[in-house]
Amino acid sequence: MAQLQLGDDVPDFTAETTEGTVRFHEWLGNSWGVLFSHPKDFTPVCTTELGRVSALKPEFDKRNVKVIGLSVDPLGSHKEWANDIKETQGHALNFPLIADADKTVSNLYGMIHPKADNTLTVRSVFVIGPDKKLKLSLTYPASTGRNFDELLRVIDSLQLTAHHKVATPSDWKQGQDVIIVPSLSDTDAKALFPNGWKTVRPYLRIVSQPK
Ligand code: BEZ
Repeated sequence: MAQLQLGDDVPDFTAETTEGTVRFHEWLGNSWGVLFSHPKDFTPVCTTELGRVSALKPEFDKRNVKVIGLSVDPLGSHKEWANDIKETQGHALNFPLIADADKTVSNLYGMIHPKADNTLTVRSVFVIGPDKKLKLSLTYPASTGRNFDELLRVIDSLQLTAHHKVATPSDWKQGQDVIIVPSLSDTDAKALFPNGWKTVRPYLRIVSQPK
């Protein structure tokens, strides 16, 4: 299928995982979701990534985000690899890892980029809203491990901007000042931000992060 774009409904699927059969949309329920792919089991970068996400699981839980990984190897292999992840990374795998040996989900989500590798997935990340629409996607090559603190940071931005008429500036972190969206008039902004804001330019209005 064509590459998924922001705002698209994400495809549903049923898959075998390390935590049993997952019917994706039903499993997501009303939560946010992160679906992220790994090129192959028993590979070094992937091993560190799965350990890191397991360590950060409480941070995803706090944000009402369900995390699910994928690798194009069978379930038996995933289960053996999980032992290595626990022993080498100090954190046991604590979220489902999809066994996508027939590449159904990888193809559905466009995770295989033939010019990078014909058979293995790249490192895709899909952040999905409670409405099952795609809110953010990232694509990294196999050789570069992802920064999951950055993923939490963008989820904070996505969740904030889903509920308030603000956008977050470069390098923004939770608690820092934000920007009033340009489409909001000063008159309307007064109602939403009664404590006021700083106008740097008419299109650049800085305000405290709304609660
Ligand atoms: C890795 O996870 O270390 C890896 C996987 C595929 C290609 C290169 C590195």
